Amino acid sequence: MVEKAQSKQQASLPIYVLNGPTLNLLGEREPEIYGRTTLGQISEMVAAQAKSHGFETVFRQTNHEGELIDWIQEARKSASGVILNAAAFTHTSVALYDALKSLDKPLIEVHLSNPAAREPFRHHSYVSRVANGVICGLGAQGYVLAVDALSKIVKG
Ligand code: DQA
Repeated sequence: MVEKAQSKQQASLPIYVLNGPTLNLLGEREPEIYGRTTLGQISEMVAAQAKSHGFETVFRQTNHEGELIDWIQEARKSASGVILNAAAFTHTSVALYDALKSLDKPLIEVHLSNPAAREPFRHHSYVSRVANGVICGLGAQGYVLAVDALSKIVKG
């Protein structure tokens, strides 16, 4: 009984939703590409969806590569899994890739736009190499779908 209660507690670690550079400007930034939904609104949508699956969320944004890496390291102990929109770092950061290789938790990569349909420099993703799955091109709704996917993976 005690063992069961403990494993239940393990499963209810929060889902980390981590956002990289310039995503703080969602709603104002190139709305024809990224839509008009703000990051604050996405945070609320994600929290509600996660709650429906029995999870809390930790939702953060940073413009700083090192801070994103610190949060990924924190997630190794403190998260059930991670939803990551690394924004431009997706295409550039070996440091992010190395940190994600040590995450050892389910990882869903999210992009609002579809990078494969955009400039060639967006076609390569360091995150995709280590992600369980990728959701892109569906705007803010992609984050909600990522919560569904991640909670299914975490619950097994
Ligand atoms: C993005 C796509 C990236 O190529 C870009 O650098 C971003 C946002 C997206 O959500 O569509 O900043 O990750």
